[in-house]
Amino acid sequence: MRTHYCATIGTQHIGQSVTLAGWVANRRDHGGVIFIDMRDNDEVLQLVCDPTDDAAAHKIAEEIRDQYVIIATGIVRSRGEGLENPNLKTGKVEIVVKNLVIENRSLTMPFELGDNKVNEEIRLKYRYLDLRTPRSHQIFKLRSKVTIAARNTLDSLGFLEVETPILTKSTPEGARDYLVPSRVHNGEFYALPQSPQLFKQLLMVAGFDRYFQIAKCFRDEDLRADRQPEFTQIDVEMSFCNQEDVIMVAEKLIHNIFTQCGFKNIPTSFRRISYNEAMEKYGSDKPDMRYDLEMVDVIDIFANCTNEIFSNIAKDTKRNRIKALKVPNGDNIFSKRQMQSFEKFVKQFGAGGLGYFQMKEDGLKGPLAKFFAEDDLEAIINRCDLKLGDAVFFGAGEKKLVWDYMGRFRIFLAEQMDIIPKDKYEFLWVVDFPMFEIEEGRIKALHHPFTMPKLDNQELKYNDVEEIKSIAYDIVLNGYEIGGGSIRIHKEDIQQQIFKILEIEDEEANEKFGFLLDALKFGAPPHGGFALGLDRLVMLMAGATSIRDVIAFPKTQRAQCLLTQAPNKVDEKQLDELALRIRKINK
Ligand code: AMO
Repeated sequence: MRTHYCATIGTQHIGQSVTLAGWVANRRDHGGVIFIDMRDNDEVLQLVCDPTDDAAAHKIAEEIRDQYVIIATGIVRSRGEGLENPNLKTGKVEIVVKNLVIENRSLTMPFELGDNKVNEEIRLKYRYLDLRTPRSHQIFKLRSKVTIAARNTLDSLGFLEVETPILTKSTPEGARDYLVPSRVHNGEFYALPQSPQLFKQLLMVAGFDRYFQIAKCFRDEDLRADRQPEFTQIDVEMSFCNQEDVIMVAEKLIHNIFTQCGFKNIPTSFRRISYNEAMEKYGSDKPDMRYDLEMVDVIDIFANCTNEIFSNIAKDTKRNRIKALKVPNGDNIFSKRQMQSFEKFVKQFGAGGLGYFQMKEDGLKGPLAKFFAEDDLEAIINRCDLKLGDAVFFGAGEKKLVWDYMGRFRIFLAEQMDIIPKDKYEFLWVVDFPMFEIEEGRIKALHHPFTMPKLDNQELKYNDVEEIKSIAYDIVLNGYEIGGGSIRIHKEDIQQQIFKILEIEDEEANEKFGFLLDALKFGAPPHGGFALGLDRLVMLMAGATSIRDVIAFPKTQRAQCLLTQAPNKVDEKQLDELALRIRKINK
């Protein structure tokens, strides 16, 4: 139907006849001459309908309204000096219309396209209109480029793309499963995969050596701006590798994705810190490294103070932390009232309070100063490297709690001070994760139970399970976890020891993952891998604030699709076939 796309038209076409097809983005009647901004898949071009040029086309243009579908044929001409539109790629030219066809009409838009202040629920209900905007088109072009770059890179590195099942059995990623009832086996259920984790390990046992997949994953968990119940991973696994080999592949992949999508100055290898360092310095296992603000330990200095709350906390240095967060020039940036109000912020996350000092000309001042001897105040100045005008905040209590609220406070301060550079990409590996964590008195695998622990001479030796480290690594970008992976256990004896620590009985292990444990007995090679969260990656590359913006048909925070109205009730016949009955439960 068309001879060109709008974006391809430029001054080189002046004088030529072209046919374009698309939507009316805007129509203006300038007393006789009608201007139409016509948009096809990603660019706008101005059409001019002048009754003196073509009366029939002008008559049709009078009928046209926004978002009508039209086909226009006309002659390309220069807009003339002073009339150019520098905001458009096509802004130097316009089309003098000779023939105009209305292919389809449109109802009035339920909201103004491209207006981000419009309630998101309306935009999601009419997502196909929301997606009609140039901004959305740019995002989905980028997303497509990312997957093409990923495929090309992995293909060039010898990885084979293999699809794994969607109707499957529970995988151990730690979220709730989405279940699918079986009609053939009444009372039995498939689980949708939380990731292809177990299948990719089986492919290694099958000798595939290097696998990848752009895989849909499903997790029934609490949703946030960076989480969807249905999301996509660039999933990778390789055999006969160690952590270094996997990290090299991941870095090459990320470097190529960014570079092939037009990003400049992307490093070829990324900085690494241990989980422990990340928690102690930044209070997070996914710290944003675009700004400094590091915490230091001051529990030993606080042990001497005369305030009982602090000195009691300081007695247990294994369980507790007292952390100082220096804000350079903070005493000049924040008023006393603001500093006091920060306590409210951290209290939302369980903090007992938030102490602070200001570095004045005559030394450290602030509500806490009276509890400290001069020497100890001096020690704080030295430990935190305080200069005149700096402020320093303190969090004290159980270590996980302190890490959490001080980590959040670090981000909050950076936002308040507006020190987060927008166009910077800071990649970081967080390595040496603990193998286990204790939650409500129960030992849990921090990643999953198939992650290889760090061994000492091929053996798992330990005094305290919390001290066992795993060969697991996360990739962090600007404060978001964009990927993670590990070296897996490929030997049965180590796997048994891990199950024992996790108090998973043989019977339970066999029932849940027997197929994998069996496979490991048939000559499983050493193997490991990682997965990148494609949606999060595209969100950060596109500068979007929500993962929903980069998913064509996303779910709401309450896991609903407002467009199709899923999830929805089904009729009795379907329930009967599945031998299901809906029970009323008082939640
Ligand atoms: P993990 O659970 O860390 O690892 O997931 C890998 C990456 O997937 C992204 N991600 C999500 N993105 C959007 N919505 C969600 N609900 C969501 N959950 C996770 C994150 C995360 O870093 N099988 C392992 C990988 C491996 O060990 O090889 C796995 O799934 O960016």
